[in-house]
Amino acid sequence: MSAIVAATAGAAVIAATPASGAASTLGAAAQQSGRYFGTAVAANKLGDSTYVGILNREFDMVTAENEMKMDATEPNQGQFSYGNADRIVNQARNQGKRVRGHALAWHSQQPGWMQNMSGTALRNAMLNHVTQVASYYRGKIYAWDVVNEAFADGSSGGRRDSNLQRTGNDWIEAAFRAARSADPGAKLCYNDYNTDNWSHAKTQGVYRMVQDFKSRGVPIDCVGFQAHFNSGNPVPSNYHTTLGNFAALGVDVQITELDIEGSGSSQAQQYQGVTQACLSVARCTGITVWGIRDSDSWRASGTPLLFDGSGNKKAAYNSVLGVLNNGTGTTTPTTTTTTSGNPGGGGCTATYSEGEKWSDRFNGNVTVSGTDNWVVTVTVSSPQRVIATWNTSATWGSANVMTARPNGSGNTFGFTVQHGGNWNWPTVSCQVG
Ligand code: XIL
Repeated sequence: MSAIVAATAGAAVIAATPASGAASTLGAAAQQSGRYFGTAVAANKLGDSTYVGILNREFDMVTAENEMKMDATEPNQGQFSYGNADRIVNQARNQGKRVRGHALAWHSQQPGWMQNMSGTALRNAMLNHVTQVASYYRGKIYAWDVVNEAFADGSSGGRRDSNLQRTGNDWIEAAFRAARSADPGAKLCYNDYNTDNWSHAKTQGVYRMVQDFKSRGVPIDCVGFQAHFNSGNPVPSNYHTTLGNFAALGVDVQITELDIEGSGSSQAQQYQGVTQACLSVARCTGITVWGIRDSDSWRASGTPLLFDGSGNKKAAYNSVLGVLNNGTGTTTPTTTTTTSGNPGGGGCTATYSEGEKWSDRFNGNVTVSGTDNWVVTVTVSSPQRVIATWNTSATWGSANVMTARPNGSGNTFGFTVQHGGNWNWPTVSCQVG
């Protein structure tokens, strides 16, 4: 247990980190809020005991990094090949983990025979591929990335040109309908990158497609955000807005291929922000990182993952685990005390302590000492809102400022804050009434 003592103008702040009740692995920590924490897995690493040890210990969802893609599963037209994919699926399921299927239809990593096709022949080949692969894995897949990366980068907000797109704009919905028929129990996702920033044209384009699909009854259940970040493409500050707006369309959202280039506390902070963004949206059902150790990454030189090349936990690991455990990160204190006046002679002290946390709200408790005749001012920061109180009578000076007085219940009261993705603590200050 570590203690942090800091001082701010006019207020003493005393803090300590929580000790018990915290989960010690990513998967277990995510499960506390009904979420999962997954990783991409490569079949050719399943003989590496360090790799498999971390996989089995930390993660409860698995995505095949390459083995379920079109070139892997249908190397020759009409000849399906599931050996490596099965190795990953069986390893995961034997360990009680679930599987995200990735990906049924994509312009990239197509088998050679498909790259050269066009028109109706290509459309039918694509639909047959979707049907065959989704049928083969029926009942074993939590969610399928039915279509991957179909939108263009840049300012157009429109579709990416590809052989599949040239078969007609309805190719995406046709793929989703085929997948639904083949495996009615799997969630069906659209998955893409550069869709994290709400003001980005590509994000808006995908949003409009999902809105259109929902309004016309095209079967779509989820949207995947790949989340490959680096200094040129940083974690956007409006990430929770993006996730929340998509979720409001009536789909789950998932972070599907997370990696963030960098190191140390800067990398850890960005991982913390992504994790908090997911936790702030009730329908953000889980996070998958795109590999286990930095050396396993498709961008290994950027050291973008949660474990170093030797399999040690990085600072980023600790920050993600901390957020999953308590919503705010490992170094966050659990109490803060403000003292007004002279505590020895007629002043009072208000101590704020964290209560329960949920994806959309948290509780706070305040204990007052020094007087039974107190007035405590609680200030929350936008977009937070106090939505309930207990053991106090409360009035509001403005939407952000609550004045609490005794109501005969003693000197401890509490309140619930709807946080809108802002996990900052309210500030409390006490005056003698
Ligand atoms: C990457 C794999 O990690 C690499 O091993 C492979 O060479 C190329 O594909 N978006 C996706 C993933 O949807 O399938 C990609 O995976 C990374 C970008």
